[in-house]
Amino acid sequence: MDIKVVKGDIKDVEGDVAIVGHLEDSGEYGGALKTLNVAMNGEIGELLEEDRDRAKLNMVTEQKTRGMVASSRAIVVGLGLQKDLTVDGVRQAMASAILVAEQKKAKTVNVVLMGAGRGGLNSKLVATAITEAVYLGLYKFDSWKSKDEEDNVVEIELVQIVEKDARKISSAKQGVEIGEIGARGTNHARDLVNEPAGTMKPRDLKNDALRIAESSPMISVEIFGRAELQRMNMDAFLAVAAGSDEEPYFIHLKYEPKVKAKKSIALVGKGVTFDSGGLSLKPAASMETMKIDMGGAATVLGVFESIVALDPAVEVHGIIPATENMPGGKAYRPGDVIRAKNGVTMEILNTDAEGRVILADALAYACELKPNAVIDLATLTGAVVVAIGEEMTGLMTDDDKLSEQLLASAAETGEPTWRLPLFAPYNKLIESKIADVKNIGGRWGGALTAGLFLKKFVDPEIPWVHLDIAGPAFAERPYLTYVPYGGTGVMVRTLLNWLKKQK
Ligand code: BES
Ligand code: MG
Ligand code: ZN
Repeated sequence: MDIKVVKGDIKDVEGDVAIVGHLEDSGEYGGALKTLNVAMNGEIGELLEEDRDRAKLNMVTEQKTRGMVASSRAIVVGLGLQKDLTVDGVRQAMASAILVAEQKKAKTVNVVLMGAGRGGLNSKLVATAITEAVYLGLYKFDSWKSKDEEDNVVEIELVQIVEKDARKISSAKQGVEIGEIGARGTNHARDLVNEPAGTMKPRDLKNDALRIAESSPMISVEIFGRAELQRMNMDAFLAVAAGSDEEPYFIHLKYEPKVKAKKSIALVGKGVTFDSGGLSLKPAASMETMKIDMGGAATVLGVFESIVALDPAVEVHGIIPATENMPGGKAYRPGDVIRAKNGVTMEILNTDAEGRVILADALAYACELKPNAVIDLATLTGAVVVAIGEEMTGLMTDDDKLSEQLLASAAETGEPTWRLPLFAPYNKLIESKIADVKNIGGRWGGALTAGLFLKKFVDPEIPWVHLDIAGPAFAERPYLTYVPYGGTGVMVRTLLNWLKKQK
């Protein structure tokens, strides 16, 4: 599929479908909707007037145009009230509309920069939102569906963003480019998360990192196996890996910009390709979706998939401890004490709290690179889902500035994120009688005690943010029109957005 920006009038550009937006409080129709309605002798307006709800966000009205305009069908999508309209509203509305266009077996789809006229939104941001909506909304994970079913699917081949005003064309083109970069990384992360654990093993994450590094001279990769990890004192990571027959890999990707970078950022992603719980075995139902436990790693790989096109000015490290958590004969045990790379010792009381154990070594490794910031992403705790639900990322940090920046970036990309406290008094909940720390807290505040545990492996001189994506990494049911069932690739777009702003 291709997305283009073309100069013209929506009624005159040929295609299978023409998509325009409809503000609830527009009174008389304005802009592109008026153009279409006039060309259609008021037919679409009549349909809209039958039911005012057709202007509510995401409501789709569709009609054949019978030669009155150059596209065979008109799709009018509700944008809601003007005062409530956001760029994310456009992203949602466009995904609603394109899904209907797909059902109608359209090949060429025309759309206006809806929301950028009367809606008052910035045309570049609208172009980005439209582009993301198309790629993210139409995403499918169907590689395991037998061929027969795919055969009768007609795919959308071309989306044309049609704009009359010559002055908006170049900003729209820039917006499309940004949308493509974000969607590509996100959909790559989705693919990695959706792939079952039997075919997405630590070596598959390693091979993906190798492929990404191969694709550009600006990206390099180092991979460490068991023997090297022993020499590097990564006993915590190795303890989790011990229960699996699959070889673990510690992956270190590095992106260097063309001009010498002033700053470097380390992104650390939890890469547990399957979390059985280990000897503290999960109940069967809780294991069903545990292929998603490499969601943090998928986000890091998604960022790297798009990073060369993004062209940020900073050096970026992508660090992934990749392993299974299995209860094999060599598995680590409840009661074991392990010394992490930075010398801190931990008492293991539950082998299912393995994410923080592998991240202990990964964070210590990341800090040794002396980056200007470390951001980790992990499907770390069920507790964060209890606290803030399935759709929100939990952000923990002591650095107010980084927190504000990331929350602002997340608000722009439409990825709900909420700051949770690293409440120091709760350190008492993870005190161990025999080691420096234990790997589980009590019954309450589990997302926070996990964050406090991680903090013990971070160099206090280095700004650090922990993102617990246990909820939003996987959509058990669609969250939004552009986030279908399955892996979501959450935080790829937010991190890309943030990285681009770093100088
Ligand atoms: N992978 C899980 C966390 C998780 C739960 C992710 C649900 C996505 C959805 C993690 O490794 C885990 O098992 N955490 C335990 C920690 C507990 C033993 C302290 C949990 O949250 O139950
Ligand atoms: Mg390379
Ligand atoms: Zn676990």
